[in-house]
Amino acid sequence: MNSSQLAIVLGTRPEIVKLAPIIRECRERDVPHTVVHTGQHYSPQLTEVFFDKLGLPAPDHTLGVGSETHGQQTGNMIAGVEEILLDAEPETVLVQGDTNTTLAGTIAASKLDAELGHVEAGLRSDDRGMPEEINRIICDHTADRLFAPTPAAAENLRAEGIPSDRISVTGNTVVDALQRHRTLAADQSTALDDYEVTPGEYGLVTVHRAENVDDRERFADVLTGIDRVAREFDMEMIYPVHPRARKVLSDLTVPDSIRVVEPLDYLEFLRLESDAGLILTDSGGVQEEACVLGVPCVTLRKNTERPETIAAGANRLGGVTPTRILDASRDMVKADTGWDNPFGDGDAASRILDTSAAVATREVVQ
Ligand code: UD1
Ligand code: UDP
Repeated sequence: MNSSQLAIVLGTRPEIVKLAPIIRECRERDVPHTVVHTGQHYSPQLTEVFFDKLGLPAPDHTLGVGSETHGQQTGNMIAGVEEILLDAEPETVLVQGDTNTTLAGTIAASKLDAELGHVEAGLRSDDRGMPEEINRIICDHTADRLFAPTPAAAENLRAEGIPSDRISVTGNTVVDALQRHRTLAADQSTALDDYEVTPGEYGLVTVHRAENVDDRERFADVLTGIDRVAREFDMEMIYPVHPRARKVLSDLTVPDSIRVVEPLDYLEFLRLESDAGLILTDSGGVQEEACVLGVPCVTLRKNTERPETIAAGANRLGGVTPTRILDASRDMVKADTGWDNPFGDGDAASRILDTSAAVATREVVQ
């Protein structure tokens, strides 16, 4: 194995989307790299289809850990990632975001002789009830290099005592991905025809967070809120359902205004996002994408670790009750959509690679 190389650990849909620009940049710069997929997500609609639509080769390693309790899943991933890293001896390991895969990659890499970089560092919801918040904190306090997407994220890290020389503000790779795929989505996706919707006249919904969908009553309230918005604005709601939500949804009555569909591939989803009149979501990535694409968003949560979207005027917290969801939607449908994008210029992947030891060393040697 080449000792001056990068290992990229991923395992869920959003990590594939947000690490794709870095993998592509490695390929373009000829940086030796290895991609490890933990198998946290394994349904083809959440995995293969993303490598395919994002134009990425299959991962070099796939662990196939699957779904388990948090501890079992994370433990299995740590053991599997460690074995691969011990063999590959990378100089730098990159993890992204806040999933159990991110946590496992962090723990495995931190005990080895490799620099650990956390992409999308410094986000905080200040809600320790979310497994993602615990994962973020552990990863940020373990990593050697913190790639904060915004100045506010960097400030969160400094406020927790993380030394400034470990932190770089890079922008969010979500913008890199959007810039590359937005036109492709507009040219190639037939989603508007397939779903027989007119730009600006439909809503796009995603609800998958454990705290929303694992609680039946709360999930039912959120669906009632979305239905009220649909009726008030005469907007059909398209809801591509994440498998976690699908398990619970079959026991609930879904209002007629909400069209439940299978999870979409990135290009189809991007097309529907770009042309939606309103986006209602509890997804982190979708809040960012809506903001960058200039589409009004209501977040179906009581908090967000993406406050930049709210400050920009692109997003409003809708909470999880029908009344609040409707109130927030009333505000957002009439919002002026000319806000500034707070997530960077689309060069985040390049900046992240420039500050990674694997690349820096290689460029000195050449
Ligand atoms: C995980 C992340 C979450 C992220 C989401 C992205 C954690 C703690 N949570 O949540 O932050 O927003 O990914 O989509 O890491 N399932 C399938 N097929 C799959 C994967 C999951 O059917 O390919 C079902 C299983 O029933 C599983 C459930 O979804 O039990 C939850 O999957 P899991 O990976 O535990 O968490 P996510 O909800 O996907
Ligand atoms: N996404 C997609 N198809 C879908 C739903 C989401 O391609 O049916 C993409 C979306 O564009 C974004 C990412 O998946 O890039 C967000 O993933 P998710 O909501 O699962 O995770 P989160 O961002 O909340 O961690």
